[in-house]
Amino acid sequence: MLICNHPVDGRMNGRSIEIAEGVFRMGADDRTEPIFEGSIPIPEGVSYNSYLILDEKACLLDTCDASVLPEFWDMLGAALGGRRLDYFVIDHMEPDHGAGIVKVLESFPDAVLVTNKRVYDMLWNFYGLKPSNWKEVKDGDELPLGRRTLKFVFAPNVHWPEVMMAYEVSGRILFSADAFGCFKTLDGKVYADEADFDMDYLDEARRYYTNIVGKYGQNVQNLFKKVEGVPIDMLCPLHGFVWRSDLGYILGKYDVWSRYDVEEKGVVIACASMYGNTVKAAEELAGILRDAGVKTVLHDLRTVHPTYVVSDAFRFGNIVLASPTYNNTIPPGMASALEDMATMAVQNRRYSLIGNGSWGPASHKVMEERVSAMKNMVRVGEPLVFKSCLKDDQKGELRKLADDIIASI
Ligand code: FEO
Repeated sequence: MLICNHPVDGRMNGRSIEIAEGVFRMGADDRTEPIFEGSIPIPEGVSYNSYLILDEKACLLDTCDASVLPEFWDMLGAALGGRRLDYFVIDHMEPDHGAGIVKVLESFPDAVLVTNKRVYDMLWNFYGLKPSNWKEVKDGDELPLGRRTLKFVFAPNVHWPEVMMAYEVSGRILFSADAFGCFKTLDGKVYADEADFDMDYLDEARRYYTNIVGKYGQNVQNLFKKVEGVPIDMLCPLHGFVWRSDLGYILGKYDVWSRYDVEEKGVVIACASMYGNTVKAAEELAGILRDAGVKTVLHDLRTVHPTYVVSDAFRFGNIVLASPTYNNTIPPGMASALEDMATMAVQNRRYSLIGNGSWGPASHKVMEERVSAMKNMVRVGEPLVFKSCLKDDQKGELRKLADDIIASI
């Protein structure tokens, strides 16, 4: 096995590893870019992968983000070792994988660009390019490389409409574009089985899936139908780990998430607050649920980004929304969380409401209206509504709401 660590600007970041004979994973962590797609905070960073197959033909699959382009370029040069590049496959045109496209096309003018028409059109949109040396592929087309052969599997909207995957037939390797990736740096690891994935990466894998692909569950299910019966020994995403064992684990997670099924029994409480009184009531509820043995997560939207709420709304079967009334509606944090939940197609969940308002409580009605736009959402219990702070004479109502939630799980 060939392993090269490439110091760039004093960092040991890029890591190129031969994951199968003549198949190289070239990947690097980015710890410096705190926002993904300009919208999603990634406090634990992210990683980018591209792949190179050296067979009778040399074939590069995708590039990387601008943040790790020097590392990518260094790894590509080292892995090629002076060989010419014959093919350049682009599976996904999102710029977090396309930062090296222009340079690859300029540096390897004889390499044939292999991609689909949608990608080709996006090359013009993003980079003003219409390469003449290109081969259009359609769903199911094959590209022989020698001993290895790539078969293209179109996977529209997993995550963009132009996305395709490349299945390497002899090694049973699926180069899966964004699918099966995760947020968070890998810190030298390459394979998922080198990590305690459940403990250390599942939350960020879920937040990644639910906030970038979550609304396209049907497209993920379409992909599963398409590859049903196809033997897969290795998953190679553009972010995160290479999966070489226990593939059923991550495939199973994607199946649950894309069906909008409940992954785990429990409750996520999403809570806005102005002066701490609403979150105090939410914490009391969380305490009762915890005492009853119910797994409960509370997100305080004053400091927690809505992407964490979306992620746990996919995870758990019950959602509690707690909010003060703010300008006769709900505060921006709660509005944003509910909008994100609707956008990412959260559905098939039970929900409960806690509304606060100092002179005219209205937040519970606004939240109810926003939730009603989501599919198959069933309310559990009566909304708990109080003025300014929860008094002792309403603790019974809180207890009743908790009992209703517990009974529904
Ligand atoms: Fe990682 Fe859809 O790009």
